[in-house]
Amino acid sequence: MLTIKNARVTFHSGTINERKALDNVSANFSKGDFITVIGSNGAGKSTLLNAVSGARELDSGSVWLDGQDITQKREHYRARVIGRLFQDPMKGTAPNMTIEENLALAYGRGQRRGMSASIKKADRLVFAEALSKLGLGLEERMKSKVGLLSGGQRQALALLMATIVPPKLLLLDEHTAALDPKTSLQVMDITNAIVGEHSVTTLMVTHNVKDALQTGNKTLLMSNGRIMMILEGERRKSMTLEKLLELYSLEGGEFSDKMLL
Ligand SMILES: Nc1ncnc2c1ncn2[C@@H]1O[C@H](COP(=O)(O)OP(=O)(O)OP(=O)(O)O)[C@@H](O)[C@H]1O
Ligand SMILES: [Mg+2]
Repeated sequence: MLTIKNARVTFHSGTINERKALDNVSANFSKGDFITVIGSNGAGKSTLLNAVSGARELDSGSVWLDGQDITQKREHYRARVIGRLFQDPMKGTAPNMTIEENLALAYGRGQRRGMSASIKKADRLVFAEALSKLGLGLEERMKSKVGLLSGGQRQALALLMATIVPPKLLLLDEHTAALDPKTSLQVMDITNAIVGEHSVTTLMVTHNVKDALQTGNKTLLMSNGRIMMILEGERRKSMTLEKLLELYSLEGGEFSDKMLL
């Protein structure tokens, strides 16, 4: 479903600051896989997601989605079928637009319909139902400006926007990291519900090892621009934080403190 072949991304190539953010990375994921991605700071996690979304061009290698080589496809083209969420809750939504306007924009994604089109009654019903599933009461506030929402509410809305037209692939880059622990849990629950409902193939970067092992069906460990291991099945089920730490350091990886929280 998603295949990455020999992907390389190097920053500051040929200088003293040269940094191989992706060092010959290859991986193959199936439809419906929910892959969590962990690794220390600078391991290449965001670069991997950027390479898939098209935000970062590869030096060499290729990215395939649903059997199609999308390596040369521009980011905006890929965005029609790839949903994305970042750490910053301010990024995924437009603050000066209302909740329903934001959703309408996302709902029209991939179609030629411009944002000038007024919101149809039927669409509004779809939005209200989707919002009510979040359990945050946002369906009562559809005409409120998104700028008035809390970080967690915005992130939940951004998640809904990314999936209201189910994408082929969902990329989440530490999307709960900027939220307080309680809100973070809530947004993780919402994430699991939304991903589960549509069986969206998902890559989720997290710094929380426990979340990484408990969420989804595969865990990818990165270090120094390489995939160190992919855990799945029984091996993943029986993996503990301690064992993982040991394996990771044996392979030369370093856990940052925040990963152990
Ligand atoms: N735009 C850039 N210019 C120069 N170097 C970059 C750029 N983006 C990333 N890098 C470098 O590439 C390496 C991988 O970065 P990346 O952001 O992918 O790491 P990460 O695993 O997401 O880390 P973090 O946990 O801090 O988010 C790092 O050494 C980083 O400094
Ligand atoms: Mg990152």
